[in-house]
Amino acid sequence: MTTLTIDPRRVLGDLDRRVFGGFVEHLGRCIYGGLYEEGSPLSDGRGFRTDVLDLLKELRLSVLRWPGGNFVSNYHWQDGIGPKGSRPIRPDLAWGGTEPNRFGSDEFIEYCAELGAEPYFCLNMGSGSLEEALAWVEYCNDNRGTYWADRRRQGGHGAPYGVPWWGLGNEIYGPWQVGALSAEEYVAEATRWARAIRMIDPGAKLVSCGELGWTDWDAKVIDGLASLVDLHSLHLYTGSEDYWTNVLTPHAAERAITTTAAMLQRAAYNHGLEQPPRIVYDEWNVWFRNMTGALEERYVFADALAVGTYLNIFVRHCAWVKMANLAQMVNAIAPIVTTPDKAVVQPTYYPFLLHSQGHLDLAVDVFVEGPTVGAPGEYLSRWPYRVDDLGPFNLVDAAATLDQARRRLAVTLVNRSEEPERAEVVLRRGSFAGTARVRCVTGTGRPSAVDGVEEADLDDATVSTRDAQVVVELPARSFTLVEAGLQGA
Ligand code: AHR
Ligand code: AHR
Repeated sequence: MTTLTIDPRRVLGDLDRRVFGGFVEHLGRCIYGGLYEEGSPLSDGRGFRTDVLDLLKELRLSVLRWPGGNFVSNYHWQDGIGPKGSRPIRPDLAWGGTEPNRFGSDEFIEYCAELGAEPYFCLNMGSGSLEEALAWVEYCNDNRGTYWADRRRQGGHGAPYGVPWWGLGNEIYGPWQVGALSAEEYVAEATRWARAIRMIDPGAKLVSCGELGWTDWDAKVIDGLASLVDLHSLHLYTGSEDYWTNVLTPHAAERAITTTAAMLQRAAYNHGLEQPPRIVYDEWNVWFRNMTGALEERYVFADALAVGTYLNIFVRHCAWVKMANLAQMVNAIAPIVTTPDKAVVQPTYYPFLLHSQGHLDLAVDVFVEGPTVGAPGEYLSRWPYRVDDLGPFNLVDAAATLDQARRRLAVTLVNRSEEPERAEVVLRRGSFAGTARVRCVTGTGRPSAVDGVEEADLDDATVSTRDAQVVVELPARSFTLVEAGLQGA
């Protein structure tokens, strides 16, 4: 049995709904043939696949990052505006193939509006110039009668888009990136860009390009850019055929967050900042099977447990993690898979769905007592991260949130055990009111309507509570959301 003790007054921080964000890149079938397919009977007049839109809307995405990823480092946004017939086709240096530019800034903004998600643009700091970046900000956000604002208006978009989030490049440290730089070069270049972007849009929220969160690149970039940015970005991909490696490696994010938070605090102190920048995990996911081509990863239920654990971590560390973007959303390493005539979900869709639908305003501490598991001794991930120095971990990983009024509680539980586990949630203050709703997802191993995609089962039940206690039976290898009313908390 695992006992989860919650003191509703022991608040960890405000949960920013931006941790339930996504990322879509011009890569494989993510945009074209994924969320956008002109001429498909499943698409609306704008070319948006309505079946994909419906599945994304269920996820209540708060923010969407675009257009890359590696793709952005050779993306010239001006190719993607104006009449579609006159937009140029360009080589895509990141993933090979060509970019038709039929989905550009206007289409992306329209897509975000349809989803109710904030747009987060990543700037091309590879082959792109500062002049181009400034023109992009002007095109999107300027309300004056300037050249690029007028170009936006000519396209039928009178009101500025008000794009709040701008990323200063993507993975600039990596040789796979068009125009990779050293940390020193990046700090110098990003300093010029940040200052100039704030001159055209003082309200722009800027994101420095970080790495894993514990590297020398992160240290140098944080020290160099902390006074100029709102968020520092981290990326983490994990995964392994080995079950325990797969489900435990997301805990590497906890090392990244605590290390980065320490560096951000140090920089804020040294530079006399009022507030340190916070963290955005603007790419995270399980990804280890399909590393080239269209990255059409087929997920199994163990991957869903890893995704649930990542999100639990972001909730627990919400004082530092202010945004996170699942990489990616459609077809390419994604919870949603399309064919010309349908869209289905992979197992990883469900923990995101339940997290995003269930979690509330304030994260609260969960004291977990129960069986633990050590980090895998033989490390089998295809990624170069170690977790063998971390742990032990609770077999049941948990995160909890409350609404502002302390009338409702949501708890997400990842049971990594290969056995069922009884979970007892106990309040230190107040009591439960009425029954609890328990939504639990498990793997079936059954094939779905699309080749290679596995189905998962989502069970929706009610369990009774008794005073300050509710007992939930967690199936082996399961992800569960418990929601209940509170009184006197
Ligand atoms: O999400 C796939 C790729 O992973 C992104 O393009 C890149 O930023 C990262 O390496
Ligand atoms: O107990 C399950 C796994 O077995 C642990 O993760 C690992 O330490 C051992 O190999």
